[in-house]
Amino acid sequence: MTTNLTYRQQTLVQLLSNQKFDVIADVGCDHGYIGATLLTKSIAKQLLFIDVSQPSLQKAQTLCQKLNLTSCNFLVQDGLGESLCDCAVIAGMGGKEIISVLTNAKKLPNTLLLQPMKNTPNVREYLCKNYHVDKDFTIFEGGKFYDVLLCTKGSDDLSQLEMQFGKTNLQQPTSQFAQFIDRQIDKYEKIVQNTMDKRANQTLNQLKLCKKEIENAKNI
Ligand SMILES: C[S@@+](CC[C@H](N)C(=O)[O-])C[C@H]1O[C@@H](n2cnc3c(N)ncnc32)[C@H](O)[C@@H]1O
Repeated sequence: MTTNLTYRQQTLVQLLSNQKFDVIADVGCDHGYIGATLLTKSIAKQLLFIDVSQPSLQKAQTLCQKLNLTSCNFLVQDGLGESLCDCAVIAGMGGKEIISVLTNAKKLPNTLLLQPMKNTPNVREYLCKNYHVDKDFTIFEGGKFYDVLLCTKGSDDLSQLEMQFGKTNLQQPTSQFAQFIDRQIDKYEKIVQNTMDKRANQTLNQLKLCKKEIENAKNI
C-alpha cells in the first residue's frame, strides 16, 4: 500500500527530500500521510506523529501499521511540548496555532517546514527572531492558495513586502503567485470602490507594490 499525497503534501515532502534527519515531528499529523511518506523515503530515521486529537492520531497509527512502518512514536498532545526533534512539520493549521506550538515548545528544532492556513504574516514576524527563512512561497491546488515556508535556525530581516507576501514569491515569482495577486487586487479594488475602507485601501496599495516587484523580478 502507498499513500496518495495531494499536490500540497507532495510539495512539503519534496522540500525535505534532499536532507536526512534523525527525528522529524509531524505536528497535527491527522491521517499521517506526510510523516509516513517522510519515513518511507528515508528522509527521517524516526517519526514522531503528534496530534491533539486521539481519533486523528489513530488514523496515523493505522496507516503506519498498514505500511509496516516501525521507528514511529505516536503522541496525543498539544503541539511539540517536551518532545525533541531535528525538524518539525506543522501543516494545515492556522498561523496563530503554529506560533503557539512553537512558543510552547521546550526546544525549537533546527529545521521547520510550515504550511499555515491563515495569518502567515504573523508567522513570518515570529520566525524572524529565531529562524532564517530559506523558502517562502505560495502554491495553488483545488481552487485554494497555500503558503509554504522552509526555515532553519538563525534569524532573518524581512522587508515589509516580504513579511506580507513571502520572500521567494517576490524574488522568484511563479505565474500562480502572480495570478493570486491579480485576484486579490480585483477583490480589494471592489471593496475600496464600495466601502472607501481605509484598511482595504492600504492592503490594495501593498498589493499593487507587490505586483510591481513581481514585474521587476520577471524582467531580470
Ligand atoms: C487539517 S489537519 C492537517 C493534517 C496534515 N498535517 C496535513 O497538512 O495534511 C490539522 C490537524 O492538526 C491537529 N491540531 C490542531 N491543533 C493542534 C495542536 N495544537 N497540537 C497538535 N495537533 C493539533 C488537528 O487535530 C488536526 O488533526
